[in-house]
Parts: sequence; structure tokens; C-alpha cells
Amino acid sequence: MDRLVIRGGRRIEGSVQISGAKNAVLPQIAAALLSSEPLELSNVPEVTDVDTMLDMMREFGVIATRQSERKLILNAGGAHNAEAPYDMVRRMRASILVLAPLVARFGSARVSLPGGCAIGARPIDLHLKALEALGAEVGMESGYIHARTKADGLRGGRIVLSSPSVGATETALMAACLARGETEILNGARDPEVCDLALCLAAMGARIEGAGTHRILVQGVDALHHARHDLISDRIEAGTYAIAAAITGGRLEILGAHLEHLGSVGAVLENAGAQLWPTDRGLMVIRSGPLRAVDIGTEPYPGFPTDLQAQFMALMTVASGASVIRETVFESRFMHVPELARLGANISLQGSTALVRGVERLHGAELMATDLRASVSLVLAALVAEGETTIHRIYHLDRGYESLDHKLVQCGGDIRRVSG
Ligand code: UD1
Repeated sequence: MDRLVIRGGRRIEGSVQISGAKNAVLPQIAAALLSSEPLELSNVPEVTDVDTMLDMMREFGVIATRQSERKLILNAGGAHNAEAPYDMVRRMRASILVLAPLVARFGSARVSLPGGCAIGARPIDLHLKALEALGAEVGMESGYIHARTKADGLRGGRIVLSSPSVGATETALMAACLARGETEILNGARDPEVCDLALCLAAMGARIEGAGTHRILVQGVDALHHARHDLISDRIEAGTYAIAAAITGGRLEILGAHLEHLGSVGAVLENAGAQLWPTDRGLMVIRSGPLRAVDIGTEPYPGFPTDLQAQFMALMTVASGASVIRETVFESRFMHVPELARLGANISLQGSTALVRGVERLHGAELMATDLRASVSLVLAALVAEGETTIHRIYHLDRGYESLDHKLVQCGGDIRRVSG
């Protein structure tokens, strides 16, 4: 198993290229199942979650061809309605996103209950309710979800999400595209990745209005067609590099990043002592003064994203003062806390709140990566820890960060990957 060895104390400087968004590409790969004609995606990130999703698509007979320039062609012309088995689905929670396209195109689906990062219970009830609102019958048996439409397929309806789940909004969108008549989706997620899925579906011929707002309207069509779509850049990767620059007192141009996609993150980092501004090519981040403690609570977009909570906590471990970090999106997303403590961070946990008291310095240690975002927070802390830090089990990082070690080395980090 690979591990990362990081020597702290170098500034992260220069420029870094952000890859396509992992959380945008996964639903769009699933969306290819909606059409018998090919879907061409570009700016596809090279992360292992994409490989996992493609393995899953092959179960359904989808032909996936990777081309140069990060292009991916998905041809679901010969696709059939197979089962999504436990062995595949447990590897990644986003696998649940195949459920709606299978039901919409083939009239039925059998998908194992999902796995993925161990960050709380993560139910899928909202996905199932969305399908039911469009007339599907949904049941559960031996760990599998069964969903089936009436003989005449899905019909438009009103989907009211009790909380703005990203995945459930995507499920609702994909199902509604091929449902008869109009579907209204209320209180859906407004994340840039949801808007990007809507753009991709629109390129395939779907009729969608209001993506990015609390009310999305979809007019169902009979079939979707061939399309090309260029994915948005990964705002969580961009935010992670912004924090890398901030924690090391660096100066970094984050190429391809969009400040507006970062929601409240820009203002929070400025309060913490960084300066951020948009450039022609992306986003500049500098930190020259002291780091200050800032309180945050994670919230649905455009609030502070749960996917940057661990990284922000790493930043706060070396800020002056005490910061309160509340996790409201997932109930147990603090697996980085004991590992950060091994570096000398002073963090106390009470339920879904962490109190981080900034320390003068962190010290290198042996650490274990747990989930994707927790792992990268350890990398960020190691960049400023005195001495050497070794992070084990970094396959978690490879799920969602393309070439993290290479990109950090290019920006001046002292970091190497050791195999075996
Ligand atoms: C997506 C992202 C993930 C991010 C999360 C929140 C992808 C592939 N993953 O995950 O990186 O951390 O959004 O921004 O895009 N919930 C229910 N019932 C449901 C669905 C969700 O109760 O049917 C709850 C979850 O347990 C969680 C909250 O809603 O507490 C948000 O989850 P959701 O937005 O659905 O996250 P994902 O789409 O799984």
C-alpha cells in the first residue's frame, strides 16, 4: 500500500491546475444510461472514483472509451438492465446514482444499498421518495433496492425534498427528464455540480429550468440524444489548494478555479488572514500576515461545504486563538481529529462541534488516512508540521484528488509517494 512522506516547512507557491470536478463527473457518467446515443465528457479527472463508476457502467453493457485530453465517451446503445451488485456499490456511495437512469430508461432496477466513505449513516430515503413521487414502486429486499415503473413509465410529479440532498436532487433530475409531463423539484441542492448535471442533460435534449435555485422545473421528453459536455472544475480541490497556500503562508494561483463556486469559503479564508482574488486564469490566494481563528458551521451550498471542513480544521490548528467548527451536514465527520492530534493539534470534540485551539507548531508523526477529505487535511497539516510526517492508506486520497503529490511538489512542497 502506498504512503506519503511529507517534510513540513515549505511554502506552497506558483500555480496549480485544478482538474474536472469529481462530484460532477460521477452523476454525468450515470446519466449516459439515459440515452442510447453516446455522451462525450471532457475535462474528466483522473481519480479512482471515476474508474469505479466506469466498472459499474460496464456491468450494464455501457462501452466507456477514454481518449486523450481527458475525454471520455460513454456509449449506452447496447446497455441492458443488469443488477448493480453489492461488490460494486459498496465501493462508492455515488453508485446509487445509477438507480434513476436505469428506472427511467428500462422501467426497473435492482441496486444494492450503497457504501462509500464511512462518514455517518447516509441514508438514501430521499432518492427513493423522489422516484416514488414520479410513480415508481420501490421496495427493499436482502440489502437490495428494487424499483419499477407502471407499464407506461415514469410520470411527472412534485418532488419536495425535506433537505437539499445533492444526490437526491440529481436522482430527481435524471428521472424527471424521461418522465411524461412536468416535474417540479422543490428545495433541491443548488450546488454547482447539480447545475453542471442540468447543463449536461440539457445538451442531451432535456428541458430543465431553474437549476441552481430552490425550484427546478423539468418537462419530460421521449428520448435523449448524443451530446458533448465539458465538466466544471473541482471547487473542493480548488478550496484545498487555497488552504494549502494559506496554511504555509504561500502565494498560489489556482488555475481553472472559480471564486463564485466556492460560496462562503472565500470570505471565511479572508477572515482567517488570507487574501483571495479572481485572475484571468483562476484564483489567486496569498497569506502574508498571521492566521486568525474563525468559527464555521458546514451548510448546504452556498454555505461552507462539509467537503472542506477537515481541511479548514487543519488550518485552524495553527491559527492564533480558538475556533469552533460545527458539522451539520454529516453526523460523524471528524475522523481526522485523532490523527491531527497526533501532530500536536489541540482539538476537543463535543457531539457535532469541535473546538480547535491554535498551537504554535505541529510536529511530524505517523498517521492513518481514513476518508477522502480527512486524508487531505492530514496532508495540509503535514505541510507545516516540523520534521517528517508519514501518511498511510493514501488510496483514500486517490479516490478524489488527481496527482495530489505531483501537484504539491510542483508548488514547492516536499512530498513523496512511497510504494509497498
Ligand atoms: C454529495 C457529495 C459529497 C458531499 C455531499 C454533501 C457526490 C458524489 N458526493 O454526497 O462529496 O459531502 O454531497 O455536500 O456528489 N441524506 C438523507 N437521505 C438521503 C440522502 C441524503 O438523509 O436520501 C442526508 C445525508 O445523510 C447527509 C445529507 O443528507 O446528512 C447530505 O447528503 P447528500 O447531499 O445527499 O450527499 P451525497 O449526495 O451523498
